[in-house]
Amino acid sequence: MAKFVIKGGNQLNGKVKISGAKNSALKIMAASILATGTTILKNVPAIDDVITMVEVLSTIGADISFNSSTNEVKINCDNIKTFEAPYELVRKMRASILVAGPLLSRFGEVKIAIPGGCNIGSRQIDLHLKGFEMLGAQNKLEHGYIYSKVLSSASSSSGHTSISKNFKRKLKGAEINLEFPSRGATENIMMAACLATGKTIINNAAKEPEINDLANFLNKCGAKITGIGTDSIVIEGVEELKGCEYTVMPDSIETGTFIIAGALCGKKIEINNAIWDNMGIFCQKLKDIGVNLINKDADKTIIVKKSKTLLKPAYISTLPFPGFPTDLQPIIAVLLCTIPGISVITENVFENRFMYVDELNRMGANIRIDGHHAVITGVNKLSGAPVNASDLRAGAALVLAGLIADGTTEIYDIHHILRGYENFDKKLRNLGADIVKVN
Ligand code: UD1
Repeated sequence: MAKFVIKGGNQLNGKVKISGAKNSALKIMAASILATGTTILKNVPAIDDVITMVEVLSTIGADISFNSSTNEVKINCDNIKTFEAPYELVRKMRASILVAGPLLSRFGEVKIAIPGGCNIGSRQIDLHLKGFEMLGAQNKLEHGYIYSKVLSSASSSSGHTSISKNFKRKLKGAEINLEFPSRGATENIMMAACLATGKTIINNAAKEPEINDLANFLNKCGAKITGIGTDSIVIEGVEELKGCEYTVMPDSIETGTFIIAGALCGKKIEINNAIWDNMGIFCQKLKDIGVNLINKDADKTIIVKKSKTLLKPAYISTLPFPGFPTDLQPIIAVLLCTIPGISVITENVFENRFMYVDELNRMGANIRIDGHHAVITGVNKLSGAPVNASDLRAGAALVLAGLIADGTTEIYDIHHILRGYENFDKKLRNLGADIVKVN
């Protein structure tokens, strides 16, 4: 099993280029199921989750290739033969559930393994299923699988011969009010609605920039989506989508991770391919703490410089975009651990997202959990220790802790980190960190 070995104490300096967004690339790859012809995606990060999505799509019959050195994916879904996503793949990566909407739309039915909980929480899919139901599908749970099928048919109006000929039954547009602005549910319903008959409105939709990226891709393929970036997304069903060339947006969570690395131990880090506006309240919150951040919007660059003043403790509450992102919660916790005084983090999105706390405490942090709050008392230093990455962002947080800890930190279970960060160790090394991956 591979591990990261980090010798703490080095100051980081230089430039780092942010990769394509995992949480956008995966969804756009799934969305390509809806399109005829070939889709070419650029700026797709070379990470394990992308490899899994390639596997999911080729399992259902897509002709797909991924060039990890050019970060390009080529997909043609014209010969998809099945509407089933098996447990082996869904359990490996929860985002596999995002093929459900496109498959339901294309085949009128989909059979997909229920993902189950994971290390950050229970992660229901009830809102996805309720959305499918509102669009005219009936869901049945059997043997750990959801089988969703379009009931009545609103037959296709044109005599087209391409992918749409596969539509035995079509979904029907509807107004859907989400109980919670779930990203996954918004994405699955939006994709399913693109080829439905009539108009779909998703109210209380998620507004993360990755959802806008998915909508922009779908529109480039011929979809009619408006209200992008608002909490009311309107989708006018069309007969057909056509594959296109599209460049995936930069990863905002990776951007946030490097911003915090800079705040922890940077002299001056220039983060390229980084979009300030995609960070919601995050950058403002860091400025409030006293982090020296500069937005060079025109160059898609964010600069973090060593702060001349003492950083201040903070209250952080995670919320859907533009609120503070739950994915950066474990990562900012590391920064708060080093700031004198008491900080409080309230986690509102996932009930189990404090799994990293015991590991950070083993490194000398002082964090106490009380329900969905973490009370952090700043300490003078962290000390290197062997620690375990329980999930992707928890793993990244431990890497950052290792960068500032005394001595050596060994991070186990790094397969979680490799799921979502492209060349994480190499990028940190280029900035001056002493981190190696040992197999
Ligand atoms: C996505 C991101 C993940 C991020 C999360 C929140 C991907 C691949 N993953 O996950 O990195 O942490 O958004 O920003 O894009 N919920 C329900 N019922 C549902 C759906 C969700 O109760 O049908 C609940 C979840 O259990 C969770 C909350 O809603 O408590 C947020 O989930 P959601 O926004 O759907 O997150 P994901 O799309 O799974």
